[in-house]
Amino acid sequence: VPAGEWVIIALPSANRDPARFPGPDRLDLGRDTSGHVAFGHGIHYCLGAPLARMETAVALSTLLDRFPRLSLAVRPETLRWRPVSLMNGLESLPVRLG
Ligand code: HEM
Repeated sequence: VPAGEWVIIALPSANRDPARFPGPDRLDLGRDTSGHVAFGHGIHYCLGAPLARMETAVALSTLLDRFPRLSLAVRPETLRWRPVSLMNGLESLPVRLG
């Protein structure tokens, strides 16, 4: 990068290097996630990372304990992503409880 040039970082590209995370668009709960930057990196690494991890573990295990037969209520291909935003997410996630 020549001196004085602007650099614009594409935040959505974080954790999407297929050389490091094969099939990066696929939800793979068993993949080796070491080296991911979801909580940042270096001196500004997320201060709330342990809390966020604990909250997620408690929320998901409580949900699945309460609704062990929880399943998707629509065909996966009908799910719609929200228009581009800082935080990625679905417009809605219809589920069946039993
Ligand atoms: C899944 C949830 C979360 C994600 C994905 C996340 C992600 C991040 C990322 C990527 C950064 C680095 C920003 C940068 O380098 O400029 C950061 C910083 C930070 N996060 Fe989080 N965060 C989460 C939850 C939380 C929670 C629950 C708290 C507090 C209770 C928190 C507090 C902070 C603080 C204070 C910083 C700034 C650290 C610094 O600049 O030294 N975060 N977070």
